[in-house]
Amino acid sequence: MTKISENEVEGFAPPLGDMSEEDFRRFGHAIVDWIARYQNHIEDYPVLAQVEPGELRSQLPASPPAQGEAMEEILGDVDRLIVPALTHWNHPAFFALFATSTSAPGIFGEMFSAAFDVKAMLWRTSPAATELEEVALSWLRQMMNLPEDFGGLIYDTASVSSMHAIAAATERLNLRIREDGMSGRPDLPLLRVYSSDQAHSSIEKGVITLGLGQRSLRKIPSDAEFRMDAQALEQAIEEDKQNGVLPFCVVATIGTTSSSSVDPVPAIADICAKNSLWLHVDAAYAGSAAVLPEMRNFFAGCERADSLATNPHKWLFTPFDLSVLYCRDMESIRRAFSLVPEYLRTPEGESVRNLSDYGIQLGRRFRALKLWMVLRYFGHEGIAGRIREHCRLARLFASWVEESNDWELVAPVPFSLVCFRACPKIENETEETRAARLDALNEAIMHGVNSTGEVYLSHTRLGDKLSLRLSIGNIRTTEKHIARAWELLNEQLNLLK
Ligand SMILES: Cc1ncc(COP(=O)(O)O)c(C=O)c1O
Repeated sequence: MTKISENEVEGFAPPLGDMSEEDFRRFGHAIVDWIARYQNHIEDYPVLAQVEPGELRSQLPASPPAQGEAMEEILGDVDRLIVPALTHWNHPAFFALFATSTSAPGIFGEMFSAAFDVKAMLWRTSPAATELEEVALSWLRQMMNLPEDFGGLIYDTASVSSMHAIAAATERLNLRIREDGMSGRPDLPLLRVYSSDQAHSSIEKGVITLGLGQRSLRKIPSDAEFRMDAQALEQAIEEDKQNGVLPFCVVATIGTTSSSSVDPVPAIADICAKNSLWLHVDAAYAGSAAVLPEMRNFFAGCERADSLATNPHKWLFTPFDLSVLYCRDMESIRRAFSLVPEYLRTPEGESVRNLSDYGIQLGRRFRALKLWMVLRYFGHEGIAGRIREHCRLARLFASWVEESNDWELVAPVPFSLVCFRACPKIENETEETRAARLDALNEAIMHGVNSTGEVYLSHTRLGDKLSLRLSIGNIRTTEKHIARAWELLNEQLNLLK
């Protein structure tokens, strides 16, 4: 082995180790001050980034710095270059997609988690992360009034939570899929998952990822209010069985992405029980509303589900990412994913939960900490109060839409999402030209409103109508913000109609 002389090391070694404690405090305090100001003056920024594609990239060096740079310079560039290229998800007038919100306790949780840098794979490598996850998820389960026999796991996103649920459902079939896979097996029929035609695309992606193939997902039509047609589900299952297909899982959605519609879970649960199918409920967005006693009717039937996914990173004031999968058959998840090589074997054995047994990842972030801090800081009542207010604001906005002759609601408003569109009348118009005109008008209104930078709305297609969506979920959104959105929408309508 070549011996490196002491002189060589001394001559060439760059300074090693991390930032000094003193600098860490100095910059850390400056960053906290910056974030505090950002949070409280976020309305000074346009909600939607006003940059062109490639604009940020063109301002950054193509190669990494050979020598370290001063923190002052790096922070200066965050201000100068990064912030203008942000779409401000934390802006109270972010009404697009599903509006979400971080919160102070959640940010603190992330800070600790980055500092601890725990890889929550084995209980031994992360007792706090493993046990706090159980505690925080038990608290959330109680707040959502879900049954006690639901175990819980934290994943990054609902896409991943639902994929793991479908994997567990596949495992429960006892078809040796884990061992033998699915390809080249003449003994295996086509396995079928059902969802409504309104289900989130993540269900289809999950089916693709698990190797079931897109044809394994049968999309059941929804009714006029965008809810799965339970009768059509039953017929599809019957038909599949007669054709030698093996139904094994139904995904119902509470709070669909386009319109926040609620599938008839009690009727779907009956069908699942009759046919021994795994029932997974995707409540990624709306699950948070289950903390309100007056909203529990929307969650009827969930107590009979095999699994349920909900995203505290959507509407529970928890910074991205944190999705929860509740499951009554944790053993199926474990059977689907557990693989323990020698180097991961620990003396605790089966007496503890090792989180790496419950998914495709080995290491996991310590996400439970931020959720636990959010739940403690706001408490059940504090969280419920904020979600209740968002629902009130949505109903208020919907009432303005309903009272106006120029606008209409396109879907019911069960939670905090309003789907609506402009529909001014013109004389002597055919149905066809009217449909095309209103689609184009609403799209133009949306772009006009978004280009002001004051609010950000998105759209969807519901039935044959292009619909605008106003989604409320930010912790700082007040009546003032939805009133301004309404004003801007009407200004655009008057300019364009
Ligand atoms: C009903 C539903 N399911 C799943 C998802 C996917 O969420 P994630 O980004 O956490 O994967 C969404 C996202 O909006 C959703 O609305």
